[in-house]
Amino acid sequence: MQILVTAGPTREFIDPVRFLSNRSTGKMGYAIAEAAIDAGHSVTLISGPTFLQPPEHLHAFRPVVSALEMLDAVQQFLPVADALVMTAAVADFRPARRFDRKCHKGELGSTLELVPNPDILAAIRPLKEHRFFVGFAAETNDVLASAAEKLHRKGLDLIVANDVTQPGAGFETDTNIVTLLAPNATAETLPMLSKAETAQRIIARMEAEMQKR
Ligand code: C5P
Repeated sequence: MQILVTAGPTREFIDPVRFLSNRSTGKMGYAIAEAAIDAGHSVTLISGPTFLQPPEHLHAFRPVVSALEMLDAVQQFLPVADALVMTAAVADFRPARRFDRKCHKGELGSTLELVPNPDILAAIRPLKEHRFFVGFAAETNDVLASAAEKLHRKGLDLIVANDVTQPGAGFETDTNIVTLLAPNATAETLPMLSKAETAQRIIARMEAEMQKR
C-alpha cells in the first residue's frame, strides 16, 4: 500500500524569529512511518520541523513548516495514497499578519491577532473516497469521549487517543499509552509500549480494518 504519514508540529511565524507552535517532537509520526516501511508499505512522510532523522527507505520526504504548507502537501500526495495517518500536531491558529522583518518590542502590542488554520482532515474529506484515514487525539481530560466525538466528526476510520498528562504517554517521551477506536468496534487500550511498538500495533490494526472491507 501507499501510506501518507504526517508528523511533528507546525510553526506559525509572527516574524522571521518568532513563531507559535506546540510540544510535538515528531517521534510518534516518524515511528509510524518506520513501522509502515517495515511492514512492506511505500511511505511518504510529510513533516513539520523536528530534530529527527527521517527513516531510511521512505518513498518521499516532504518537510513543511506551517499548517497551510502541510495542507498543500497532503493535497498533493493524497491522490496516490491508499491510507493517511495524520499524526501531526497541527497548530489551530496562525497570526493574522506575518511581518517580514523582526518586530521591535512594542510594535506587536500586547494582543496578537490570530486567524484559524484549516482543519486538514476536514478540508480533504471530500477527497477521501476509499482511502483509510487515521487520526490522533491528544487529550488531557475526557479522553475517550473526546476521541469518539473526533472519530465521528472528522469521518475517520480509526483514531488513536492518548492522555498526554499520563507519565509515559504523549509528547517528548519514547513511550506511549494509547487507545484505538474504530467505528462500531470496542476500544482497544494498549499497554505502555515504546513508540516503535505502539506504531507497529497501529499499522497492524489499520491493516486488519482494511482487510475487513
Ligand atoms: O481536533 P484535534 O486537533 O484534537 O484533532 C486531532 C487530529 O486532527 C489529528 O489527527 C490532527 O493531525 C488532525 N488535525 C488536522 N488539522 C488541524 C488540526 C488537527 O488535520 N488543523
